[in-house]
Amino acid sequence: MVSATEPIFFLVLASSLCLSLVASKSGEPTPAAWPPQFHSVVMMNNSGTLQVVNLWYDWPNGRNFNIIQNQLGKLLYDLEWDNGTSYLYTLDSNKECRVLHFPVGILRPNWLQGATYLGQHHIDGFLCNVWEKVDFIWYYEDVITKRPVHWVFTQEAGEEKSPLLESVIAGGSHGSLMRGVF
Ligand SMILES: *[C@@H]1O[C@H](CO)[C@@H](O)[C@H](O)[C@H]1NC(C)=O
Ligand SMILES: *[C@@H]1O[C@H](CO)[C@@H](O)[C@H](O)[C@H]1NC(C)=O
Repeated sequence: MVSATEPIFFLVLASSLCLSLVASKSGEPTPAAWPPQFHSVVMMNNSGTLQVVNLWYDWPNGRNFNIIQNQLGKLLYDLEWDNGTSYLYTLDSNKECRVLHFPVGILRPNWLQGATYLGQHHIDGFLCNVWEKVDFIWYYEDVITKRPVHWVFTQEAGEEKSPLLESVIAGGSHGSLMRGVF
């Protein structure tokens, strides 16, 4: 359970994303759809808990794999299936394992469709187009390469929750940050 505003910051450092340029009719840019499969290295600040996440997104096979290294802490595997089942486990001597069930599958490649354009901002040395989606995700995409640079997830306690937000909360601080269908 999360009882206060909990920002979760993502920084996509390196990825194999290769995206094409898309522009809406109004002249405002629209976020590039995700490639069906990619690997990204994500630096994450999860309310002060620092993690390096190797993210393997695999839409054709209906799965999303987060390999989460906590700073000076455990290595956690979070395998999310589109049918709603997630496996969170370690391969250390403790051999922890949790099975979680979510009402939603993984993010669709076009999950950013319909996001609200907020303009251009500099972040981490990149000039980005910024969009807001379902009132709590800010998504920063490099203007030139169209690659994601930064995400911010925020949520207020007591707010009406989207299926994605429900899942983010249910997943807790160590899992399922990617889950969600819109
Ligand atoms: C991580 O986020 C917290 C706020 O939740 C902030 O106080 C802290 O400075 C951040 N750490 C880094 C390394 O960005
Ligand atoms: C979802 O798919 C995974 C991988 O095939 C499987 O292990 C899991 O049992 C499935 N969950 C449901 C609810 O069918």
